[in-house]
Amino acid sequence: QTTFDFVVAANRLPVDAVEREDGEVEWRRSPGGLVTAMDSVMRGRDGAWVGWAGTPGEAPAPFESEGMWLHPVPVSAEEIEHYYEGFSNDTLWPIYHDVIVPARFRRTWWHAYRRVNERFAEAVCEVAAKGATVWVHDYQLQLVPELVRERRPDVRIGWFNHIPFPPVELFAQLPWRAPLLRGLLGADYLGFQRTADAQNFVRACRSYLGATTKGDRVTLPAEDGQPTRTVRASAVPISIDVASLTELARSESVQQRAQEIRASLGDPKTLLLGVDRLDYTKGIRHRLKAYEELFEDGALSCPDVTLVQVATPSRERVDAYKRLRTQIETTVGRINGTYSTVGATAVHYLHQSYDRAEMAALYLAADVMLVTPLRDGMNLVAKEYVACRHDLGGALVLSEFTGAYHELSQAFICNPHDIEGLKQTIMRAITGDERTKRRMMSALRKRVTHNDVTRWANHFLANLEASPEKPA
Ligand code: G6P
Repeated sequence: QTTFDFVVAANRLPVDAVEREDGEVEWRRSPGGLVTAMDSVMRGRDGAWVGWAGTPGEAPAPFESEGMWLHPVPVSAEEIEHYYEGFSNDTLWPIYHDVIVPARFRRTWWHAYRRVNERFAEAVCEVAAKGATVWVHDYQLQLVPELVRERRPDVRIGWFNHIPFPPVELFAQLPWRAPLLRGLLGADYLGFQRTADAQNFVRACRSYLGATTKGDRVTLPAEDGQPTRTVRASAVPISIDVASLTELARSESVQQRAQEIRASLGDPKTLLLGVDRLDYTKGIRHRLKAYEELFEDGALSCPDVTLVQVATPSRERVDAYKRLRTQIETTVGRINGTYSTVGATAVHYLHQSYDRAEMAALYLAADVMLVTPLRDGMNLVAKEYVACRHDLGGALVLSEFTGAYHELSQAFICNPHDIEGLKQTIMRAITGDERTKRRMMSALRKRVTHNDVTRWANHFLANLEASPEKPA
């Protein structure tokens, strides 16, 4: 049995097993910001990654891939429904994202969540060497820190939340708020995207566990036989591998592909771009509403302007996501029916996912990038766009409800709920003077380059190393 000094646990492995028609299994990169960031942190580190392979039932055998050991955890079809689609994405996800859609509470979902978290904890303990560093990720695995600590007091445990942590008033709704907090407090250090997220967590511990808190430290009252423990919770904003993405965007083939994309769209004067998982947190409907009204007002028209909206398929069996897809597809149909012309389409809607090179080419081709979430932990698409614009071209419209806003406040900032304001911001980004826009992009690039993913990971691990609770 192989063990490792560095172990990562996340719901998904960086690759999903996809069964092809001929029965062969093909591995494809998993969706989302977590994988984007952690994949580059893990490459060549000689660590293990414990996660789900994306298919129901029996897990594939552990294997090595690009300098990391992938250790799949089995999740049954019923557990996918209850633990993943249910508790993680129909209970926690809405609560942690300002209840943009109502959260659903089911006791059977909670039981499955606990069971799967236990299985992850066991897998972690199996691959962790004595004294290893264990880094647990995201809202799907909030019980894992405590469950690992119970079994393995020798390891050091950190947890990072990729999504927001909700204000106490919303967290309060969760029938399982106390066990979730206790689960997290099994860690030595807890990292969040924004200071406000860490503060929300600290407040929740005070309200629901009777913990005493001082600044970013939480101390649990001593329980029978258990000594008091102090855990630190602070902000460490995540990032991307800026250098490798910039290099990709500088490559001849990507630059040429960017030109091809523009040409195939009929060389519009202005190309707008949206890139999101198809998720109600991303503000895609608000963005389309503003765009439609700009056509209605006569401020925009075809063939001068076109919008490419990439909406990567996500959580397709969860009702709220099904409803959103129908709404978006109806709206796109209406906009195109009304404002497209023969030969010029108002919205190019792509319910597909693309590889990094195609994404880099799209970013490079776009004059205006629309990042308009209603709530988002960070939003790495905003950082990816900036990293690709080595030419200092383009303009970023960015919602103030993203974590990215706190670093990229020099972008064209919008409140997506304010459709009138959003329209004006989009127009400023389109018509703004080129020199000013280049200056803005240059400022954004400084910020993104400064805090790249390596810095983020080192920052998190240094905080974990220095955390007050030292393993015995
Ligand atoms: C967000 C979450 C990740 C998740 C990703 C994709 O980035 O923070 O934990 O993996 O979305 O969502 P999915 O449900 O497909 O894993």
